[in-house]
Amino acid sequence: MAVYLVTGAAGFIGANYVHFLLEREPEAQVVAVDYIGFAGNLANLDPVIDRITFEKADIADLEVMEALYRRHRPDYVVNFAAESHNDRAILGPSAFMRSNALGAQVMAECSRLVPVRSHVHVSTIEVYGELPAGQKWFTERSPLNAKTPYSAAKAAGDQMVRAYMATYPEMNIRMTHCANNFGPYQLPEKLIPLGVTNVLRGRKIPVYGDGLQSRDWLHVLDHCDAVHQVLHADLGPIPKEAATDPGLLPIFDISARHEVTNIDIARFVVHELGLDPAEWIEHIEDRPNHDRRYVINPEKLERELGWRPSRQFDTEMAATVRWYAANTGWWEQILADKGELGFDWSRVALEGQARPVSTQ
Ligand code: NAD
Ligand code: TYD
Repeated sequence: MAVYLVTGAAGFIGANYVHFLLEREPEAQVVAVDYIGFAGNLANLDPVIDRITFEKADIADLEVMEALYRRHRPDYVVNFAAESHNDRAILGPSAFMRSNALGAQVMAECSRLVPVRSHVHVSTIEVYGELPAGQKWFTERSPLNAKTPYSAAKAAGDQMVRAYMATYPEMNIRMTHCANNFGPYQLPEKLIPLGVTNVLRGRKIPVYGDGLQSRDWLHVLDHCDAVHQVLHADLGPIPKEAATDPGLLPIFDISARHEVTNIDIARFVVHELGLDPAEWIEHIEDRPNHDRRYVINPEKLERELGWRPSRQFDTEMAATVRWYAANTGWWEQILADKGELGFDWSRVALEGQARPVSTQ
């Protein structure tokens, strides 16, 4: 049976991928790796914990990770591990550089030293930066133009992964850039779960600035399905023209082409909970250096691998809101452990740094 090594497996997308993988391939042997950082939550793996091997390890530690590879001999590797929250990166960029840049390189190096059948490095739409006015979307050929501490650290990791693709083409290392994900098990410091859990506790949803910033939204299981297809795709050798054309590298952008403004996301959540958006949303100070818009084109993934999203936005958003409403024990434990997770950016100027405090 194939051995899968999945990093960041106690986070939002990694945990969903482990669930998805065991549905798709019930016999798969899964080695789930996570260092349980701020966003890591072993409870996300509760439904499958008896069917996996969990390893608490830091992907940026070469010695530890190489030993782990030698012990488990993975066939397939998916690297989801990253520090992922833009807001938190503003407070302290160093952990982001370690996980997102050094961690990406260490994982690639392990797959070089202990060869695997294929390795997917999971990256983000955000490495392309903010979509310029008048531009329809980003593609795999767009220049990397990250400008936030989170996305710049991810872009640094991307560059190393591209270097591994070009230097060690026999490695079968691939990369994906996905749009914003929504679904169950997302830490309630991100917009959608923060919004639902606030309203369920009688608090308003804090919308940064005018709320007209927009994101390209995709259900997490459609993302998992795309990553799985990229992992197993028979892609053939990298052509030499890829040296000057990143569109020819094994890089795939993922989106369901569904752009929504932040204010409309907040309205959706309140509406789904049967309340009046006018009473349950408040505009608060914007975060510094806030990218206005992201949209990405999945045409290459559709054309070359035949991937299509199978979930409809409205139906799945409603199901997501209901999931948080039904799983209060899951997020109440997180809030009990970590405290309030909203950010108050009005305190940046006052205190020199924002504090993750409730806006209420
Ligand atoms: P998350 O923060 O919920 O989970 C990340 C997990 O990685 C956490 O459990 C954390 O403990 C772990 N981790 C971080 N650094 C680690 C390290 N050095 N060693 C071991 N484990 C470590 O994030 P997520 O939303 O699940 O994102 C997963 C991946 O998908 C990230 O690479 C992110 O950049 C990418 N991505 C996320 C989105 C999104 O909308 N959430 C969109 C596109 C791409
Ligand atoms: P988030 O889910 O944190 O992802 P990202 O910043 O990486 O896109 O936020 C999505 C959008 O929602 C982003 O434009 C910031 C905004 N936002 C708010 O307006 N209020 C909030 O409390 C949070 C956490 C985010």
